Amino acid sequence: MKDAERISGQLSGETFQFMTSRRGLIKGIYRFLAAVGLGSLGYGLYRFLAPGGGAAPPIEVPLSEIPAGGANAFLYGNSPAVLIHEEEGTFRAFSLVCTHLACKVFWNPEKREFYCPCHDGLFDAEGRVLSGPPPSPLERLKIKVKGDIVLVGGV
Ligand code: FES
Repeated sequence: MKDAERISGQLSGETFQFMTSRRGLIKGIYRFLAAVGLGSLGYGLYRFLAPGGGAAPPIEVPLSEIPAGGANAFLYGNSPAVLIHEEEGTFRAFSLVCTHLACKVFWNPEKREFYCPCHDGLFDAEGRVLSGPPPSPLERLKIKVKGDIVLVGGV
């Protein structure tokens, strides 16, 4: 037995023999890790493909709550977001989670910029990075106007 180590001992008059194999142990660890990895992958795929999976349900904002030129902050899923109503009547919505290290960013309507106070990240009104360490634009949320309701996200 090349790879095996035989351990024997006596306990209460009975002899126990254990045979362990380093190769068998490593195979077992690999199999366990593969099973955990496949399980995680399968669960992630299930959550992605399940109806409504992966996305929070849309938020309904009554038009009366957001006059032209105004903004309305809300929680989308568990994350802060904002709906902006432009003077000309269009809407834009963004996640307020900074793409650098996930601090909350703030909309400044006078400067028409998003500002992240954690590391002075700056985004323009379209969510594009102007300066600072954020590696990518703010996540833009989908919008659909239905009568006097604005649906934000997941639409
Ligand atoms: S977390 Fe926003 S700039 Fe670093």
